Amino acid sequence: EARYAVFGHPIAHSLSPRIHAAFARQTGIALQYTAIDAPPEAFADILAAFAAGGGRGGNVTMPLKEQAHALCASLTPRARAAQAVNTLTWRDGQWHGDNTDGAGLVRDLTGRHGLDLRGRRTLLLGAGGAARGVAGALLEAGVLELAVVNRTAARADALVDALGQPGRAYSRYWDDLANQGDFELIVNATSAARGTGAGAFNAPITLVNSRTVAVDINYGEAAIPFLAWARAAGCLRVVDGLGMLVEQAAEAFEAWHGVRPDTQPVYEELRAQHA
Ligand code: ATR
Repeated sequence: EARYAVFGHPIAHSLSPRIHAAFARQTGIALQYTAIDAPPEAFADILAAFAAGGGRGGNVTMPLKEQAHALCASLTPRARAAQAVNTLTWRDGQWHGDNTDGAGLVRDLTGRHGLDLRGRRTLLLGAGGAARGVAGALLEAGVLELAVVNRTAARADALVDALGQPGRAYSRYWDDLANQGDFELIVNATSAARGTGAGAFNAPITLVNSRTVAVDINYGEAAIPFLAWARAAGCLRVVDGLGMLVEQAAEAFEAWHGVRPDTQPVYEELRAQHA
């Protein structure tokens, strides 16, 4: 039985084992998929031991995506652009890296939620690994322009430089958000609410117009502050990251097993437990 796993720190609450087990049942593929806790300083050794023990694929989550990127022998263009890897495939004695987060987000928004992203003025909050994972896919999906805002402005500048689409993708300051007009798509890719005791999210309501869709790439508790702000600010739709999670998993599953699973029943089952 081929071995797969998700690596993170912490990892106990990861939904990935359940998602991949459901895909495996659905497609009749025998596999083992576990969650492996990997403190950053031990990740390289843990990953090597996993491969030696028959590991053939891995998903990578916080805070290991940059490290996974550095450990790969080759990268897909989208993983290279994101400088972060969430999907590892063992081939010819080496790890190969991909990043399926952006594709997962776009598929969730355009497929499941029926949204047309083309022509939307888009605001991306955050410039860490998660933001880098989705920025390129949003541009490819045809958003009109992408404003990137980050607490640490230099990281927003670096992300925008790496995107290489001056004029269309640009950075702005948090403190200047009130002067940026309104956006039809606002994506929260910060980790601000992931810890315990996160406070309220705050931003000017002038960012929102009558068509604005607000998306948090987090789900569960970590998506509450931003989406509460978005509702209060009058956003037309709010979407959390649960669908993106299932879609990025499906992209990885297809890459490993050559079969595209049906994500909707798996999404609905998880949604029933994550209002
Ligand atoms: P991830 O892989 O989840 O993106 P990361 O690379 O550590 O994790 O990036 C975290 C992101 O959330 C960054 O954009 C970070 O802003 P900084 O670059 O200024 O650190 C943002 N972030 C984290 N905590 C935040 C907070 N309390 N307020 C605003 N932004 C925050």
